[in-house]
Amino acid sequence: MIVSGSTSQAFAAALAEATGRELAAVEYDRFPDGELQAAVPGFAADDAVVVGSTVSSDAHLELLQLQDAVREAGAGEVTTVLPYMGYARQDRAFTAGEPVSSRAVARAVSTGTDRVLTVNPHETAVCDFFTVPAEAVDAAGRLAEPLPSDLADPLFLSPDEGAVDLAATTRDAYGRGATDYFEKERDYDTGEVEIEPSDAVVTDRDVVLVDDIVATGSTMAESIDVLTDRGAARVFVTCVHPMLAANARTKLERAGITAVFGTDTIERQVSAVSAAPAVADRL
Ligand code: R5P
Repeated sequence: MIVSGSTSQAFAAALAEATGRELAAVEYDRFPDGELQAAVPGFAADDAVVVGSTVSSDAHLELLQLQDAVREAGAGEVTTVLPYMGYARQDRAFTAGEPVSSRAVARAVSTGTDRVLTVNPHETAVCDFFTVPAEAVDAAGRLAEPLPSDLADPLFLSPDEGAVDLAATTRDAYGRGATDYFEKERDYDTGEVEIEPSDAVVTDRDVVLVDDIVATGSTMAESIDVLTDRGAARVFVTCVHPMLAANARTKLERAGITAVFGTDTIERQVSAVSAAPAVADRL
């Protein structure tokens, strides 16, 4: 049975449909003191797939509770799907005294499961922090689906070198176009992003920006500014994880995007495609 955390209900439903598995009943409650309780009343299956994007501390805790609840209800095999793995970007101690947060959460998640699947973590190496078998699933190919079919001489561009493979995967799925990447510098005190443009000529071309996540939107807004200054025609923003925290969406609009598309690993109004079929293939 597929067991959904409260943050991933559409994703879990899509996964149930893609795999032909039943969607379990779940209840999410909060006690007067603020403590959470996620439960699976009537759960009866040997094999449980617990699905939850850990977009908040509550979502982390809820996932641990659901893992425990299905074991308590008799599940022998538990697979955990993290459509979006929170804290994955804190994958090393950047300055002395910092935790490796992704390792801490990976260890906790591992205690309640036999296997983990997670969609496009910031670095695939984060899978090594789990103490059970863990795999990264690539859903970037799905980002081509919402794009219009008439893109003019399209350029699939990542805002930094680390995401150029995602741009290439999206281009391959679209079927035509070039790929390139910008160089990015972030000031970690102010959060400001500086983009160093590539030599690619963008004048009158449609550009598809591709990244793993849009969080504050600073990276994409800065990239759009550069592309607009250099005469790009339309600029589309695509990402696997549309976190779009705080005023990110407004930043993108003010920068002049044509459209923004993401998957349902984080359920937002811009979640135009589901990453669930990519996960279903690996289950
Ligand atoms: C970092 O390298 C990631 O791939 C993203 O580019 C980054 O996390 C996006 O963050 P923001 O939207 O806050 O600029």
